[in-house]
Amino acid sequence: MSSILEVKNLSVSFRIYDKGLKRRDLKVISNLNVSVRQGEILAVAGSSGSGKSLLAHAVLGILPGNAAVEGEIFYGGEPLTVKRVKSLRGYEIALVPQSVEYLDPLMKVGKQITKDKSAAASVFKRYKLNLNVAGMYPFQLSGGMTRRVLCATAVVSGAKLIIADEPTPGMSKELADRAMKHFRDLADAGAAVMLITHDLDLALGYADRIAVFYAGTTVETAFAADFEREEKLRHPYTKALWRAIPQNGFQPAPGSQPYAGSLPEGCLFAPRCDMKTNECVSGVIKPRTVRGGEVCCLYAD
Ligand SMILES: Nc1ncnc2c1ncn2[C@@H]1O[C@H](COP(=O)(O)OP(=O)(O)OP(=O)(O)O)[C@@H](O)[C@H]1O
Ligand code: SF4
Ligand SMILES: [Mg+2]
Repeated sequence: MSSILEVKNLSVSFRIYDKGLKRRDLKVISNLNVSVRQGEILAVAGSSGSGKSLLAHAVLGILPGNAAVEGEIFYGGEPLTVKRVKSLRGYEIALVPQSVEYLDPLMKVGKQITKDKSAAASVFKRYKLNLNVAGMYPFQLSGGMTRRVLCATAVVSGAKLIIADEPTPGMSKELADRAMKHFRDLADAGAAVMLITHDLDLALGYADRIAVFYAGTTVETAFAADFEREEKLRHPYTKALWRAIPQNGFQPAPGSQPYAGSLPEGCLFAPRCDMKTNECVSGVIKPRTVRGGEVCCLYAD
């Protein structure tokens, strides 16, 4: 199946100024690779600060002005330039943003979702939103309801690429499953869905592949089915995530992700990895294909 979105060697740095107004470039994403194919849900998992939202914003061309971007982004096989993404945003490429601040506070919810009344009615029904919500302003909604409105807004346009950034927090299990099912239906109808989530367990029930982010880079892209058993996974960090899932023992991985600005040399996971050798800490670890998945680890087999 062909990739609708292909991100190659993406790096994002922020230009920041220290106390003495000394300029510094803070690299928050480095050598990140990810692709989303037509008809699939690619879940992006990784802890807070691993670069998930920034990837979404880089694709949509909505990073702040002090961000410098390197690498390549292709959409439908062609480079996704700033000009091109501007014309596709909100139509072919839709975002379910992580922050509820993306809704216009002064516009009634119904108008923000769509002008097409029949499309609005079906999407409201799907997300169990009462039709009178259309006449409300964003501040009148609860958090969970706002998320449902954000999902509805993004998916009503018939987009080919949907990027959903943490679409389910604040939703009950039933509503979260309903939202996931909707993304699944959109993918089955031919869209490409990038689903950014903390809830790996929920995502595994609906996604085709999982991209695992760590400290601003992709360490592994595995098939959802690989999460059936730890041995099917490739990277030590993915295996640690697997062990942290409730039904696999709920064991948190010791240590924490390094901060941007103080990243280690070589493999970014090396300080926490008990398989590390001297080879791991010299130079960038390039992605390799292992058992059909992609992994950035010298010793994955
Ligand atoms: N405007 C900015 N200036 C400087 N650093 C930033 C900026 N925006 C984000 N960052 C940093 O970039 C890193 C990645 O941020 P990002 O928001 O992509 O994380 P995330 O994976 O989406 O986390 P979460 O799961 O909490 O949403 C973080 O360390 C964050 O502090
Ligand atoms: S490259 Fe080395 S340090 Fe990094 S995950 Fe693999 S074994 Fe561990
Ligand atoms: Mg985020």
